[in-house]
Amino acid sequence: MDAIRWHEDHLLLLDQTKLPLVEEYIECWDHHIVARAIKILQVRGAPAIGAAAAFGVALAGLNYTGDSVEEFEAEVHQAIDDLAKTRPTAVNLFWALTRMKSFLESTRGTSITDRQQSLLAEAQALLAEDKAMNEQMGQYGQELIPESAGILTHCNAGALATGGFGTALGVIRAAHQAGKEISVFADETRPLLQGARLTAWELMKDGIPVTLITDSMAAYVMKQKLVDLVIVGADRITANGDVANKIGTYGLAVLAKNHGIPFYVAAPFSTFDLSLQSGDEIPIEERDPEEVRTLGGTTTAPLEVPVYNPSFDVTPNEYITAIITDRGVIQGPYTENIAKHMKS
Ligand code: MRU
Repeated sequence: MDAIRWHEDHLLLLDQTKLPLVEEYIECWDHHIVARAIKILQVRGAPAIGAAAAFGVALAGLNYTGDSVEEFEAEVHQAIDDLAKTRPTAVNLFWALTRMKSFLESTRGTSITDRQQSLLAEAQALLAEDKAMNEQMGQYGQELIPESAGILTHCNAGALATGGFGTALGVIRAAHQAGKEISVFADETRPLLQGARLTAWELMKDGIPVTLITDSMAAYVMKQKLVDLVIVGADRITANGDVANKIGTYGLAVLAKNHGIPFYVAAPFSTFDLSLQSGDEIPIEERDPEEVRTLGGTTTAPLEVPVYNPSFDVTPNEYITAIITDRGVIQGPYTENIAKHMKS
């Protein structure tokens, strides 16, 4: 099941707020619908946000009906600005928007009709490339997975979060396809339960053994020696190898180090932000307090209790055993090796 799909003349997004109970697509006819879908997490996960935004840009171009090149470009630029305001942490969003903006410039001199079709083709190429990168990453990553490993993952870094196959779940899928008898522990991932609702659903659909645990059970499960490695995705990786990912990731990395368990991050090159030197510079999204005061629409806390709801945290590079990318596996020293890797 694709999270993102172009259908004839509009975009379809699988509504991830309704999973796992309802499998329903939202029809996106303009970039405003896409921007809203990104904001309210109907589409989520760093690479998927980037790909959806690219289609949002294409929709803005396709919806232009006049014949002024200046107006056409102004509308597309407006869409890019609107989409850039949706979520601040995943750099894939800004990477995709920058790519669409440069692409628009490269089509200057051709007709508006041609440029509209080219923008759509570029968004489709970006989506297809993301899936291909994940499959490649899966091949590199699965070599690190022992024969019958117990694997802990957090949030959802699967097909739903990407153009297909997944990053962290892509590595898990590739290991499973290679015949390894792995089993996965999925953290439920409060407050929005991406692990319980999405990762458990995705892995069960593929027949990959998965056991759901609450976030607070991770330490005990590690202590019991049920976990051989942790693997997670990423929303932004800085030049020194610090990694922003779903809130709770940092805690898992500290726990893994304490228990002598390898901690891997899987992410495509579009998740690296070499303009930032360290994770301290990453903007961390803070979301609506209601997400913490409630669970599945039911109030679980005093209505007025103050809440702190950072959506991501940063794992310092020293906790990371290796970063698996579509170009290979990177180990420390990260500043040096990431620079080399990104040049290749
Ligand atoms: O708030 P979300 O659901 O968009 O957060 C998603 C994550 O933190 C994922 O782990 C990350 O984007 C990597 S997805 C391949």
